[in-house]
Amino acid sequence: MKTITTIADTQSLAESFRREGKRIGFVPTMGFLHEGHLSLMRRARDENDIVVVSIFVNPTQFGPKEDLDRYPRDAEGDRNKCESTGADILFTPGVKEMYPEKPEVFVTVEDVSDRLEGAIRPGHFRGVATVVAKLFHIVKPHRAYFGQKDFQQCAVIRRMVKGLNLDVDVAVLPTVREPDGLAMSSRNSYLNADERRAATVLFRALSTARTLFLEGTKTPEKLKKTAKRIIEEEPEMIVDYVEIVDRETLAQVTTPGREMTLLVAAKIGKTRLIDNIML
Ligand code: PAJ
Repeated sequence: MKTITTIADTQSLAESFRREGKRIGFVPTMGFLHEGHLSLMRRARDENDIVVVSIFVNPTQFGPKEDLDRYPRDAEGDRNKCESTGADILFTPGVKEMYPEKPEVFVTVEDVSDRLEGAIRPGHFRGVATVVAKLFHIVKPHRAYFGQKDFQQCAVIRRMVKGLNLDVDVAVLPTVREPDGLAMSSRNSYLNADERRAATVLFRALSTARTLFLEGTKTPEKLKKTAKRIIEEEPEMIVDYVEIVDRETLAQVTTPGREMTLLVAAKIGKTRLIDNIML
């Protein structure tokens, strides 16, 4: 595996792979890698000739009061994990490489970016769409891999690709969970032992709502109420939202539809956790 830190080297390598007719699979990440990230890399390995992984903690997607400075990092461990999945290229640019000047060009995906996470984290998805668009132009992938864990992010990326006619195939893979159901996340490292135990309530709430749905309770209001009540049984959990949305548009669903997803976000101590389940 080759580690590259410059945009120019990555672009010219990508160009030469393409000239040789090789398919490039790409997994963008912010590092502190776990099995969720590795599942994307393994799938990319299975489906492509060349696998590129990027690790870049992207400042433009963090709000001024968010955790950019304390976001967990482990360059050495991450390198080994990437290598273990058979990745070919690890692209780890510095902030000055990606944003040599104060950024003045942004990609905005309207509507879908404004709801849910976007309402609570203004500008977050503008930062995500911008950096992913930049990375696509640097890595030149045929196919890029994302996790369902960040359900709204996937919708934003899909719509960006469609809206800008980017020639990249977007693959979305299932959420990888800890044995007790907690969705894996780099931010789980912030949790102390009590918070870690309490955090399992999110998946319990999602699973219970899904079971009710499968057993015949189709009304979104009822399902949301049940999920919220379960989460609030953990006194430390502060619910940001419990929403049922249309899978494509992420618009709130009030009457039962076919393609519904239940999304939750909650804070515990200083940590914000998100999770979702397809109904
Ligand atoms: P990061 O949080 O590091 O996640 C990188 C990718 O891994 C995302 O597509 C995310 O959805 C996926 N992922 C995270 N946890 C997962 C889990 N438990 N199961 C499956 N997939 C999981 O998301 C970002 O970085 C950034 O916003 C990025 C897209 C890299 C842009 O900066």
